[in-house]
Amino acid sequence: MRISVIGCGYLGAVHAACMAKLGHEVVGIETDPAKVAELSDGHAPFYEPVLDELLKELEESGRLRFTTDMSEARGSQVHFICVGTPQKRGENAADLRFVDAAVESLAAQLGPGELVAGKSTVPVGTAARLAEIVHEGQPGAMLAWNPEFLREGHAVSDTLSPNRLVYGVDTGSEDDPAVALLDEVYAEPMSAGTPRMVMDYATAELVKTAANSFLATKISFINAMAEVCEATGADVVRLAEAIGVDDRIGSKFLSAGIGFGGGCLPKDIRAFMARAGELGADQALTFLREVDAINMRRRTRVVELTRQLCGGTLMGQRIAVLGAAFKPESDDVRDSPALSAAAQLQLQGAVVTVTDPQALANAAKRFPELPLEPDLEVALDRADAVLLLTEWKQYRELDPHETAALVSNKRILDGRNVLDPAKWRAAGWTYKGLGRP
Ligand code: UDX
Repeated sequence: MRISVIGCGYLGAVHAACMAKLGHEVVGIETDPAKVAELSDGHAPFYEPVLDELLKELEESGRLRFTTDMSEARGSQVHFICVGTPQKRGENAADLRFVDAAVESLAAQLGPGELVAGKSTVPVGTAARLAEIVHEGQPGAMLAWNPEFLREGHAVSDTLSPNRLVYGVDTGSEDDPAVALLDEVYAEPMSAGTPRMVMDYATAELVKTAANSFLATKISFINAMAEVCEATGADVVRLAEAIGVDDRIGSKFLSAGIGFGGGCLPKDIRAFMARAGELGADQALTFLREVDAINMRRRTRVVELTRQLCGGTLMGQRIAVLGAAFKPESDDVRDSPALSAAAQLQLQGAVVTVTDPQALANAAKRFPELPLEPDLEVALDRADAVLLLTEWKQYRELDPHETAALVSNKRILDGRNVLDPAKWRAAGWTYKGLGRP
C-alpha cells in the first residue's frame, strides 16, 4: 500500500520504518528539515535499538523516504498522524496545536476513499472534531483513531508485533470501510495472531489514556507500598514478588524505585485529568492526582536518603549519579526522575556528576548547569556516594569491589532496587534501596 506518515518524531519515525518493513511504500513527512536530513541519511534523531539499521535497510530498498513537503502525501491510501501532543505550558491539558495543524494541511491533499489514521495520544473527543476537518477538505475521505502502545527501547518490535490493534472508527462497526483499509495495512501482524478490536472514536481514544493511567497507578501503588515499608522496616521488593504471584495482580510494572518519567505517562495522566474536568467527570480521576503526587515524592525521597547516606549534609559531598535517561535503552530525558533528583541534589550543595551511556547530549540541553561525564570510572572517581538512578545493564552489573577502589566513601543508593544488597554490604558498602530495610 502507499502510506504517508505525518510527523517523524519518536512515534512517526518508528512507524514509518516499520510500515515499510511490512512491505508498504512509505513517505514520512516532517516539518523540521534537520530531522528529514538525518532520517534520509539513515539515522534516527534519537536513540532507539535497531532503528538505524532498519532505516538504512528500507531506504536502500526504495520503499521509505522522508520529505518536508506535505503535497507528497497525495495518492497515499492511508495517512498516519504521528505528531506530538505535549503538555501545555503552565497547564495540565494536552497541546493539540501540532495535531490540528497536521490534519488541516493534510486535508487539502486528500482524495476520496483515503483514510486518515490518528496515532498520537489525544484527549477524548479529538477524533470526532478532526473528522469534521477531514470531511471539509475531502468529503469522500475517512478518519480512524488507531492508538499506539509502543514502549521506548522496544519501539520497533512493539510496532512490528503489537500486542493488540485498536481501531476507533466513525460507525464503531466492523463493516466500516476504514476497518478493511487498516486490516490491509496490518495484514502481517494480524496473520501472526495480533488481536484487533473495533470500536467508536471515543472508546479508542480512551483505551490509550486508560492504559497509561493504569500503568502509572500500578507503579505509584508499589511506590506507596515502598513508603509504608520504609516506615516499618519491611522490604518492598519481597512484598512485590509475593503479591505479583497472584496473576490477578501480576508482577510486571511492580518495581518500586524513583518513579516513572518520560514523554508519556506523566503528561498523559495530567491531560486525562484536565479533560475529565472539562467533561464534568473530574471526580472520577482525582485518584490520578495522588498517583502523580506519590510519583513526585519519590524524587524528594532520593534527596533525603542521599543526605542520610552522607551523614546528614549534602554540602560539598561528591555524588556520582548513574543514569540520566528516564529508563534504560533510551536517550530520552523528558521528565526524567534521575535528572530531576540530580538537579535537586546540586541545588542543595552537593557536587554532582551525572553519567549515562546515551542520554548526556539531551541532558545537557535540559540541565546545562549539571556536570556530565561520559566515562563511568571518571564519574565514580572519589565519590562520597553513588546513586544508581537509571538501571542500564552496565550499572546493574557493577562489581562492588572494583567500584570500591574508585570512590572515596563506599555508600550506594540503589534507586531502582536492582543490585544485590548482600553482595554490596559484604564488600563493605553502606547500601540503601528504596522501600528496603
Ligand atoms: C509508556 C507505555 O508503557 C507505553 O505503552 C505507551 O505507549 C507510552 O508510555 P514508555 O514511556 O516508553 O511507555 O515507558 P515505560 O516502559 O512504560 O516506563 C515508564 C516509566 O515507568 C519509566 O520511567 C520506568 O523507569 C518506570 N517504571 C516502569 C517503574 O518505575 N517501575 C516499573 O515497574 C515499570
